[in-house]
Amino acid sequence: MDPLKISEDIYWVGAVDWNIRDFHGYSTYAGTTYNAYLILDDHVTLIDTVKKEFADELLAKVSKVIDPKRIDYVVSNHTEMDHSGGLARVMHKIGEDKPVYCSIMGHKNLSKHFPQPWNYKPVKSADELSLGRRTLTFLETRMLHWPDSMFSYVKEDRILFSSDAFGQHYAGLERFDDEIGEAIMPHAKKYFANILLLYADRILKLAEQVTEMGLQLDMICPDHGIMWRKDPAKIINAYVEWARQAPTRKALVVYDTMWHSTEAMAEAIVEALGRQGVDACPMHLRKWHRSDIMTEVLDAGAVIVGSPTINNGLFPTVSDFLTYMKGLKPKNKVGAAFGSYGWSGEAVKLINRELEAMRFSLVDPGLRVQYVPTEQSLQACHDLGDKIARALPADTRGPR
Ligand code: FEO
Repeated sequence: MDPLKISEDIYWVGAVDWNIRDFHGYSTYAGTTYNAYLILDDHVTLIDTVKKEFADELLAKVSKVIDPKRIDYVVSNHTEMDHSGGLARVMHKIGEDKPVYCSIMGHKNLSKHFPQPWNYKPVKSADELSLGRRTLTFLETRMLHWPDSMFSYVKEDRILFSSDAFGQHYAGLERFDDEIGEAIMPHAKKYFANILLLYADRILKLAEQVTEMGLQLDMICPDHGIMWRKDPAKIINAYVEWARQAPTRKALVVYDTMWHSTEAMAEAIVEALGRQGVDACPMHLRKWHRSDIMTEVLDAGAVIVGSPTINNGLFPTVSDFLTYMKGLKPKNKVGAAFGSYGWSGEAVKLINRELEAMRFSLVDPGLRVQYVPTEQSLQACHDLGDKIARALPADTRGPR
């Protein structure tokens, strides 16, 4: 694949990882890209690198534009190794003395990944770097999503290099929003739900800050997926909406099952929810990847969790999901627990404990059924579904 000119004297020189299917526990069924950008100016500048194994591919792309040794500055917007893994190879090629611009935390974090005594130039928010005809302005975006994360903005071209923010794990031939259209939004939503959700409050503050700064944006260039040039405001507005986490009339019934009893309960709850006009879906934890469930959690008003009791505890997939969801700190959710058991029946209590720790609003003490649901216990599941429906807003359906 060739480098791609994205603006006058600015090139995409990243790599497409077509076949990655697991990105530290996130299912990347559409692959991903590692975007890096080359700016030709009086001082030639490379913004970010790629995962280590794609470093030669990046250098080959740069070579088609300019001799890599002519790169004067490297900007590292983020330390995580999908963007900095190629740094050692790049520095070796362009000259180990070339300055590496990064945030103060970026300096600390990069130094912990690379022992080389590189010429780090730590920068702060609002610091500027003249490239000649252009100026880069840095904006620290601490904890979006690492302590080192920052944006770099070229005011002359009105381009924001946004690191992970506004990215998507998507590998394709398209490079821009206008080439793929709406089909990119589910990937952007999944990325937000699984990488950024826990920082929702910071995202809302950042959106305010960017508005106050009057940042003009003709293009947003993230480090993964497509670039936003047709309508950069679309992804910013989507982030604000996702970050607000307004409750909707959508419910997920997430469960695992051993002998189909907890499954029968899940389906009865979903049936009742559907009758009450709730957009409801049963999600079996060995049929759905945790990261796909988390994408649905993002705009669900209720998350109902079911587990059989096994060895006095939760089914392992349920523990996995609860741990994962808790870390991402979803807000404004209604919750409830259910499950079948044989003799001890601790699962419901354990789920309730986790949902309370996540500050879910529990609508019921939880529903337990011994061994196999009877008609009476299935009626109790319907009643639980009705109760959940009453706790959800009346007139908002979550998008699917
Ligand atoms: Fe794409 Fe936080 O790295």
